[in-house]
Amino acid sequence: MHLLDVDDLTTDELSAVLARAAEIKADPGDYEDLLDQQTLGMIFEKPSTRTRVSFETGMTQLGGHALFLGPDDIHLGHGEPVKDTSRALARYVDFVMARVFDHEDAEELAAYSDVPVINALTDDAHPCQTLADLLTIREEFGGFDVDVAWVGDGNNVCQSFVLGAAMTGLDLTVATPAGYEVSDEVLDRAAEFGNVPETTNDPEAAVDGADVVYTDVFVSMGQEDRRHEKLDDFDGFQITTDLLGDRTLMHCLPAHRGEEVTDEVIESDNAVVWDQAENRLHAQKGLLAWLAETA
Ligand code: CP
Ligand code: NVA
Repeated sequence: MHLLDVDDLTTDELSAVLARAAEIKADPGDYEDLLDQQTLGMIFEKPSTRTRVSFETGMTQLGGHALFLGPDDIHLGHGEPVKDTSRALARYVDFVMARVFDHEDAEELAAYSDVPVINALTDDAHPCQTLADLLTIREEFGGFDVDVAWVGDGNNVCQSFVLGAAMTGLDLTVATPAGYEVSDEVLDRAAEFGNVPETTNDPEAAVDGADVVYTDVFVSMGQEDRRHEKLDDFDGFQITTDLLGDRTLMHCLPAHRGEEVTDEVIESDNAVVWDQAENRLHAQKGLLAWLAETA
C-alpha cells in the first residue's frame, strides 16, 4: 500500500499507525533491528530539514538505511520519466519516500512501484506532517476531543490536516482569505468520515472557543514569485499574541516570523512546535514499522 494522503488509511489503520508510533517512541531500544537490511529511497525535489532528517534518522534507529536522492542526484526531472525511476527504485529499495511538487508525480511513482510510496509533501498534501500533528495533539490533550482553528492558507499541510481531523473527530474550523480555501475535493473526502470542518474567512471567529491554533507559511515552496501578492492577500491572518490568547500554537515549520506568526508567539510557552517536529520522527517510525508489518 502507498500513503499519498492520510485517507489512504482507514480510520482503524490510522489508529494502528499512531499506536505503533507511540509504542516505538516509548521504548525505542526494543525496535533497533525492526528494519534490518531495509532501505528507504528518499526523493527530494524541494528542500527539507525535518522530513529529511527525521526519515533518515528513523531508518537508522530501526536498523535500516536511508538514501538521499536530491534533485541533482538522480535522473528524475532531467529526462527520465517518473514511471521509469519508480520501477527501477522498487528493484533496490524497500520503501520510497517522495517530496515532489506535482501531486500527480507522487501518484505516478505509486502507480508504478512494487514497494510502498510515502508522500513526504506535494503541492497538495503532507500526510506525514498530519501523523505527527495527531500524535502531538493526543499527547497534549489526552485524545481528540479538541477544538482546532486552522488560520492561514488552505494549503498542502492544511488539506491533509483536514482529512486527519475528519478521521479522528477533531472539531476543526478553517479560516482562510477568500480564494485560498481548502479544495472542494478534499472537503468531499472529509465528508466521507462524517466530519467536515467549518470554513470561514474570519480568523477571530475561527479561534473563538478553540483549544489550538494551527498555521503554516503563507508562501509555500514553489510560490516565491507570488510572495507580494500572497502577503497582501493574507493581511489580518498573522497569529499574534492577541489572536492566540492562551491557546496552544501549532506550526509544521519552517516558520516565516513576521509573516504568518510573530517571533513572540512562536517563542512562547504556548507553542508546541518542537514537539510536533520531534513527533515527525516517531510518527514516521510508526508508519514504516506498520508498512513493513502490514502492507
Ligand atoms: N514540516 C516539514 O515538512 O518541514 P521540512 O520542510 O523541514 O521537512
Ligand atoms: N506549506 C509549506 C510546508 C512546508 C513543510 C510548503 O509547501 O512549503
